[in-house]
Amino acid sequence: MTKYVGAVDQGTTSSRFIIFDHAGNIVGVDQKEHRQIFEKPGWVEHDPIEIWNNTASVIKGALEKTGIKGSELAAIGITNQRETVVVWDRHTGKPFHNAIVWQCTRTDRICQELVKDGGQDRFRAKTGLPVATYFSGPKIKWILENVPAARDAALKGDAMFGTMDTWIIWNLTGGVDGGSHATDVTNASRTMLMDINTLSWDSEILEILGVPASGLPKITPSSDSMTWGNTRKDGPLGAELPVCGNLGDQQAALFGQTCFKPGEAKNTYGTGCFLLLNTGTEAVQSTHGLLTTLGYQIAGEKPVYALEGSISYAGALVQWVRDNLQLIKSAPEIEELASSVPDNGGVYCVPAFSGLFAPYWRSDARGVIVGLTAYANRNHIARAVLESTAYQTKDIVGAMNLDSGVDLTKLKVDGGMVHNNLLMQFQSDILNVPVIRPQVAETTALGAAYAAGLAVGFWKGTEDLKANWSIHSTWTPDMYDSVRKEKYAGWKKAVDRTLDWI
Ligand code: G3P
Repeated sequence: MTKYVGAVDQGTTSSRFIIFDHAGNIVGVDQKEHRQIFEKPGWVEHDPIEIWNNTASVIKGALEKTGIKGSELAAIGITNQRETVVVWDRHTGKPFHNAIVWQCTRTDRICQELVKDGGQDRFRAKTGLPVATYFSGPKIKWILENVPAARDAALKGDAMFGTMDTWIIWNLTGGVDGGSHATDVTNASRTMLMDINTLSWDSEILEILGVPASGLPKITPSSDSMTWGNTRKDGPLGAELPVCGNLGDQQAALFGQTCFKPGEAKNTYGTGCFLLLNTGTEAVQSTHGLLTTLGYQIAGEKPVYALEGSISYAGALVQWVRDNLQLIKSAPEIEELASSVPDNGGVYCVPAFSGLFAPYWRSDARGVIVGLTAYANRNHIARAVLESTAYQTKDIVGAMNLDSGVDLTKLKVDGGMVHNNLLMQFQSDILNVPVIRPQVAETTALGAAYAAGLAVGFWKGTEDLKANWSIHSTWTPDMYDSVRKEKYAGWKKAVDRTLDWI
């Protein structure tokens, strides 16, 4: 009897395996961090082998801790950091290069070349995306241009390209012994290579970028019983289980928050911060710096689209304060520091470490801490760091209100930073709307589990999933309008200071 569904959550800083029961509760979890490799300013890499080993280890770890057997799981879902790419040898399974991470800015020159002909929005109508270092296509181009072995293999049809979902699924389902080489529509929509209207790789863009179609995975729905095959019996699950769910992590959170109706939105506070608004079966093009992206697709149904505001540094900024500035020893400590002062003391921090993402899309921006006086201390900096995530979210909400023509009236939140009470209260204050956290804040993994469980009938339909959603906490606005305006004006001035830095 299968009582559970498992989900791999392969994130930017760690990999996790979470086991859920039918009520959507977590019954087991294991997690492992992987190295962040910074070879040069602005460059970020991960070791794909380390990530695969960690994934296998956390799957075993969660099963061992709970005493649950792989065979007790009805299906497996995958969710992942999006845009990060691996290129590997289909015969040996060895990557030709480290994975190039979504935050990495090494493709800046490639992107500058691309925008010369047609500007930053030259591919927007087809892909929903501006040309930016964030997306996978230019990263694959960089590998093919700079790693001769990858280029040679690609020419011979021996190279496989993939985002992290594809890499994990290929390894889980057989690797060199016939692993499934596939991705889903949500992950494919972040490559800048897929036409979001036809849901297929766009041959014109592939040619412009010099990416051979032979290396690309098959594009599939996000919830499908037929697509990715079974996990191998001698793999970490110790059982042949159907892989039936696959979504990029932000889309998985949209699914896990059960935002199934147009107009429903969620904001996930993880390494970065990502606000997605369900726009239904129509792809709405943004004119205010947001992305048009696939929300999800259930097999046999029309795809659902979303508007997205992406912020590259949220939780990762707190880690930077911990690891690089060493102002705190653990991430949660930041709330204690920030709470010990009544306000930011005039200090603002704009973490444009990978340039600025939505709604600015300026890869030439670099981070600043401004407004310093001799009065400011580390507590004010801690507060400015937390507030920066709320201000960046306000930038996005402003763009979303303009694009959709409807003002957001509440914000559903999830992710690690929702445990930070000060940030959530400030978020509500600065947006002037209630902020709502569900019981299960791990909605990313939950969304992937839901997609997998739906496909095998573990859950009967989206109404079943909605019934699992309930409120944990609500933060309501408590700030004078004049104060809100003054604070936000300070933020906008700080953002101006980051621009044209390079
Ligand atoms: O687009 C990047 C995003 O998918 C990363 O998510 O959760 O690792 O911050 P996360």
